[in-house]
Amino acid sequence: MTKNIAVIRGDGIGPEIVEQALKVLNKVAEIYGHTFNYTDVDMGGCAIDKWGNPLPEEMLKKCVESDSVLLGAVGGEKWNSVPGDMRPEKGLLRLRAGMGVYSNNRPAKIWKQLADASPLKKEIVDKGIDFIIVRELIGGIYFGEHKTEEENGEKKAVDVLAYTESEIERIGRIGFETARKRNKKLCSVEKSNVLDSSRLWKAVMHRLAEEYPDVELSDMLVDNCAMQIVKNPAQFDVVVTENMFGDILSDEASMITGSIGMIPSSSLGATSCGLYEPIHGSAPDIAGMDIANPIGTILSAAMMLRYSFDMPEEADCIENAVSAVLDDGFRTADIMSDGCKKVGCSEMGKLIISKLSRK
Ligand code: IPM
Ligand code: MG
Repeated sequence: MTKNIAVIRGDGIGPEIVEQALKVLNKVAEIYGHTFNYTDVDMGGCAIDKWGNPLPEEMLKKCVESDSVLLGAVGGEKWNSVPGDMRPEKGLLRLRAGMGVYSNNRPAKIWKQLADASPLKKEIVDKGIDFIIVRELIGGIYFGEHKTEEENGEKKAVDVLAYTESEIERIGRIGFETARKRNKKLCSVEKSNVLDSSRLWKAVMHRLAEEYPDVELSDMLVDNCAMQIVKNPAQFDVVVTENMFGDILSDEASMITGSIGMIPSSSLGATSCGLYEPIHGSAPDIAGMDIANPIGTILSAAMMLRYSFDMPEEADCIENAVSAVLDDGFRTADIMSDGCKKVGCSEMGKLIISKLSRK
């Protein structure tokens, strides 16, 4: 099969982690007889420097016209003082909206080899951590009106959190469908004791539940959910939630699995053209030092093969190779523990490639 992949290296550690993921994809292409063509796309701080815009229109067009997009990370201190709507992160938000990828899937699964790297007590980890956060990605407060104005002699800042029923319904369906393919437990997370948008969220989820009688729906307030994720993560199968809550809870969920550097994500909308990115940021403090963990990006590439290209065997091949390298005791600095062998970003990439083979 031939697939055209738009590649956004981005800022900070972005270029080095993407490099490793592309090497992995090239090896997979060689093993399975596929052709992956790559088109470079500038987005984020590097696009601001080059084009004065975090996502120029023609760059978005390249993404929309591709079969899928692989992204490293964007942002960094260097661009902290640029106006809000020209920040590197705004490029990412515009990319997600422009591609229409409303459903962001963030797995929180502990690798057995990394149980020691989790900050949770062993007895909690031993009960198992394996759930998915389905995050609404192109609505809510990140996409509402933002403004800062003068009022009564002081500044006032406003960010609007709005959801329509149809926006909630389409992400709700993804939540139910995802649960249906797993252990059939869906937890809808909101703040319905305070927010109107959450009360609507909850009502729509319960209306949808009637269409999915095989899925057990529960409700949880977001503050309680933050607590339950560290207290008893084994209770979760699929969590569905709005954009900002999902952003925050997915960072928390990733950390209990050992390292945010391990977690991939997929974002999909109405077509098979998806956006695949690790959930971590651009980590400018370690950029260019060859010590970043490329596994989140490599696993994102695996998700691309699985969910957008219908190549489950090839995706398994990558995931098994990652597991084999962890079995051999190799670790990047973020997941290092006693008795393991510390390796850098490019070495980790090489080790994973050495384990890729056709079953
Ligand atoms: C994430 C990030 C982004 C988000 C930022 C960089 C805009 O935190 O993907 O979780 O908030 O969605
Ligand atoms: Mg985030």
